[in-house]
Amino acid sequence: MPVLHLKAGSKLKMLISYVDNLPTGHETGLYYALDLGGTNFRVLRVHLGGQNGGLVNQEFAEVPIPPELMTGAADALFDYIAAELAKFVAQEGQEHELPPGRKRELGFTFSFPVNQTSIASGTLVRWTKGFSIDELVGQDVVTELTRAMKRQNLEMHVSALVNDTVGTLAGGRYTNKDVAAAVILGTGTNAAYVERAQAIPKWHGALPKSGEMVINMEWGNFKSSHLPLTEFDNALDMDSLNPGEQIFEKVISGMYLGEIVRRVLLKMAEEASLFGETVPSKLQVPFILRTPDMSAMHHDTSSDLKVVASKLKDILEIPSTSLKTRKVIVEVCNIIATRGARLAAAGVIAILRKMGELLQKTVIAMDGGLYEHYNEYSKCMENTLTELLGEEVSKAVEVVHANDGSGIGAALLAASHSQYL
Ligand code: BG6
Ligand code: GLC
Repeated sequence: MPVLHLKAGSKLKMLISYVDNLPTGHETGLYYALDLGGTNFRVLRVHLGGQNGGLVNQEFAEVPIPPELMTGAADALFDYIAAELAKFVAQEGQEHELPPGRKRELGFTFSFPVNQTSIASGTLVRWTKGFSIDELVGQDVVTELTRAMKRQNLEMHVSALVNDTVGTLAGGRYTNKDVAAAVILGTGTNAAYVERAQAIPKWHGALPKSGEMVINMEWGNFKSSHLPLTEFDNALDMDSLNPGEQIFEKVISGMYLGEIVRRVLLKMAEEASLFGETVPSKLQVPFILRTPDMSAMHHDTSSDLKVVASKLKDILEIPSTSLKTRKVIVEVCNIIATRGARLAAAGVIAILRKMGELLQKTVIAMDGGLYEHYNEYSKCMENTLTELLGEEVSKAVEVVHANDGSGIGAALLAASHSQYL
């Protein structure tokens, strides 16, 4: 199988993660993780039991990030997450007390592109998804978090800074030694895989003992003349917080699929009177149709498409529609989801080829709300993988759902990079 080489000037950032050893299963102790960048912000406490104990237990708190904090001031965002972390720690019982002199250690999953300077430091390259706080670009996010924790009088040490894909890869490897890549299909999308350190031209450090290094591809930023875009994609991009960036993400991930459907329906309403003589005003509101609503309409199996009817009524305030119109809407959802899922599968194939591992057993750990909840999407993505690999080769490739893998993975990486080892 030919190995793909990235062209100079590729939009893929291929960021070095400083993770050159994935979990072995021998990790022990009590570690924390903080997961920022998905739909919800999460704080986890993970008790690792070592060789035979495995993961003893994990507890977590999940809170949505108030939208105004996503585009507000840096301190406000970090104060909020540090305060939630402090609350979580304050509620714990004596059984979680650490020996005197030992600080709690934390793995920080920060799901944005970061130029890592070590396993526990790195500067934000740019925001993606719904976040945009200019003053943080170029800043070390671990320094910011550490300062915010100090402001909360919270004694904690960040031992690992990881992308969610890297965390998912680590969490996946903990339970399955064949996991070699991870993909997030959620609000945003991205992938990480294990690369031979010698094959990384920009790695100038000593060769790691393992000979390997995990690469955070930031595949959401892929863009190519071979990636056809429609007028709807171009308009969505122009109106977005980050025009010209994250083009792959904008055609395949959960933050955008519902919005693409809305734009298509709006044009059909304006030019083909899909909803009658007047264009429903709610249809003009950006992001009013969320991907979970699109998914619910797409999965409507009732003969009269009553879920579609109720979504149109509740969200778009369209009181009644014909069955024919509702069928058209389901078909639009199907087209947009199918395109996204097939492109996601093409991305996975590119990684498998890059790793040159099509003939060996390879497991891909996946996570993210889109993958988890949008069944038609995940089914289509997996069928496309089989179609592109061929029946025979596809038997060597397995996709597993690494549920909450990235938080656990970050705790595992905090354990293997503990300052007390
Ligand atoms: C979660 C992971 O399960 O999935 C997060 O723990 C990740 O780290 C998230 O960012 C992505 O999915 P979504 O749908 O929340 O964006
Ligand atoms: C965006 C981020 C990336 C993250 C992905 C999935 O693409 O840039 O870092 O991994 O979303 O959350």
